[in-house]
Amino acid sequence: MRFSVRLMAALVGVTAAVALVFAYFQAKAQTRALQNELESRAQALGATLQDRVEALLDAADPAALQSYLVQVENRDSLYGIIVYNDLGTELATTPSLSAALKRLPLAVTRAISENGGRGEFIRPGQAPLYLYALPLHHGPSVTGALGMFYDASYIDAGAARLWRTAFWTLLVEIFLIVLITFLFIRWSFAGTIGRMTLWMKQWRRGVTYAAPPLPDDDLFKPLAEEVRHITTMLAAARAAAEEEARLRQSAESLWTPERLRVHVQSKLQERPLFVVSNREPYMHVRNGKSVQAVVPASGLVTALEPVLLACDGTWIAHGAGDADRETVGPGDHLRVPPDNPHYTLRRVWLSSEENQGYYFGFANEGLWPLCHIAHTRPIFRSSDWEAYQEVNRKFARAAIAEMEGTDGPVVLVQDYHFALLPCLIKAERPDARVAIFWHIPWPNPQSFGICPWQRELLDGLLGADLIGFHIQAHCNYFLETVDQALESRIDWDRFVVNRRGHRTHVRRFPISVDPAELTAASGPVKSPPVDRVALLKEHGVDAVFMGVGVDRIDYTKGIPERLRGVERFLEKHPDYQGRFTFIQVAAPSRSEIPRYRDLTAEVEAEASRINTRFATPRWKPIVYLQRLHTHAEIARYYRAANLCMVTSLHDGMNLVAKEFVASRDDERGVLILSRFAGAAAELRDALIVNPYDTEQLAEAIRAALEMTPEEEATRMRAMHRVVTDHNIYRWAANLIAELTEIRAEEPQPVSAASNIAAGN
Ligand code: G6P
Repeated sequence: MRFSVRLMAALVGVTAAVALVFAYFQAKAQTRALQNELESRAQALGATLQDRVEALLDAADPAALQSYLVQVENRDSLYGIIVYNDLGTELATTPSLSAALKRLPLAVTRAISENGGRGEFIRPGQAPLYLYALPLHHGPSVTGALGMFYDASYIDAGAARLWRTAFWTLLVEIFLIVLITFLFIRWSFAGTIGRMTLWMKQWRRGVTYAAPPLPDDDLFKPLAEEVRHITTMLAAARAAAEEEARLRQSAESLWTPERLRVHVQSKLQERPLFVVSNREPYMHVRNGKSVQAVVPASGLVTALEPVLLACDGTWIAHGAGDADRETVGPGDHLRVPPDNPHYTLRRVWLSSEENQGYYFGFANEGLWPLCHIAHTRPIFRSSDWEAYQEVNRKFARAAIAEMEGTDGPVVLVQDYHFALLPCLIKAERPDARVAIFWHIPWPNPQSFGICPWQRELLDGLLGADLIGFHIQAHCNYFLETVDQALESRIDWDRFVVNRRGHRTHVRRFPISVDPAELTAASGPVKSPPVDRVALLKEHGVDAVFMGVGVDRIDYTKGIPERLRGVERFLEKHPDYQGRFTFIQVAAPSRSEIPRYRDLTAEVEAEASRINTRFATPRWKPIVYLQRLHTHAEIARYYRAANLCMVTSLHDGMNLVAKEFVASRDDERGVLILSRFAGAAAELRDALIVNPYDTEQLAEAIRAALEMTPEEEATRMRAMHRVVTDHNIYRWAANLIAELTEIRAEEPQPVSAASNIAAGN
């Protein structure tokens, strides 16, 4: 039996049973009430007749008695009246009853023998009658009985009426139940299941364009989630297979997760990979009563996650979420991503004092402005330096504990938060292969030289076997800094530093993104277009052209400069007023640091000043979205935009530029890119700008909006190729290959480590 018929049958059965039981009790109650009412009526009448009938009997006047009975029968709507003697023989009877009774009713006998009024329902013929008999007396002795008969058929008729009503009500209910169930199943279930089936069929057949959205009803949510995962995995597998096939055919060297996995396995030879960074890839935060896993806004996280997904391993990071502690298992481990675990996250806990000194203080008020030439003065406090050293030691202990039992572990340390870590790890585990990747710029030696602890930082870094930077200029500056600050031998041909018997290789590894992550489609199928006008309307803006900027709110990103560029553009080209809107997606960042709070206020003020200047009731020049957005949300803006602006005042690489390019598999959109971002070295088909030059920014916006579709496509195609070929898998493959191929040296005591470890 089909599901819907079974459901309807069950509903109808239950409804009918309930209706019938209810009708039965209702009919019973109604009959009972009518009977009681009839009995009372009979008793009352009997009481008024009794004396008169007794008197007429005593008078022995049968004619008068007969006439009285007829009169009462008519007056009180009785069916009939009989007067009996004490033997039950009829003495007087109204005509309607004369032939009706074949035998003496029990109520009469009982009324005489028990000397009291008695009632009884009888059915002498077709019609039901109610008889009320009461004794007649002569003096104290009972001489007979008076029987009053009522037509009781109306009681049965009432019950029958009630049953009829119940029946018709039930019929209507059944009809409505069947109809509603049918429509409900058709609209809610059949429609939903139909859509899901169609969607899955599309995926199975490889037709992956604009798949209909899965329903989000509570009932279907878990199923929909699973289906979504399966299809995502299917799409990834299919894309990988297609790519492999393409690779085989064209002998292209495209790097894919599969290729990286095989590559890493061969390089690491079963040894697990360890990654250390300050920022964790998944942060558990409380949201009301629930706990949510969020991906922080960090280029480092964006870049490394695909590598860990491809290779497994352990990622050691600071557990900074307010619900992080309650989501880890033994050893402060958890498998992530939460909905599809592929690698282990080991969380390290820091006290708020440690975090204040190490992260907000030394790393972000000291090293960050030291390395970024963005005119924010570094602040060096010795208490912050103490905390920085202590936290580096803490992470070193955690990493060493994780590596226990692994011979020759391979460790990738990330960024300026852990300059001392390579040396600390090497001191304990000389057999480890340690690389540190510096995700931010390395400034010239004079700039770096103002740091009071530059020698300690350099020594910490030189504990590594390999140091990676995004661009060659940063490698050069690093070697020059080492040259000026430390006793060492530098091999400028091979970019190797020899210090205290340990060799450190310095290489350029331009980091990248996973292009497949940023396109909604897979393989050769293009991502579905995003309706720009509709997207702008969601923000209450009527416009036809759209620009986008995506940044953490950081003074290195040149956000106010960019907004002023938009302002100047609208000033110079008023015909774009009412037609061009710039969407700035801004993730709050490091807001405990006063400089960042000031910047947030400055950006908000600039956006609102420019809006006040130009806005009309249905249009404004700037939509400022200040919150953490997911990658999927951001990808929508990327794909809808005519142009993307990356105007960093100084940036190691800037992955937003590469994300934008990777997301534009439609070969549309123009990238406006700061010459001070590392990405400018690779994305030469962007419109390269100096973010300090407002006129140039305004001109670049105009040029982007007025570029011919052919030129736009040519530029985007070229950049897309760069990002696709030089993707994050190639970055990781090169880094790991370089690290594992470095000739192993005799383990040397890394003497600087003893200073760091001792906290000197
Ligand atoms: C830069 C750094 C990363 C850092 C990110 C976000 O990209 O190189 O190490 O994670 O900014 O900053 P946050 O301080 O929030 O981690």
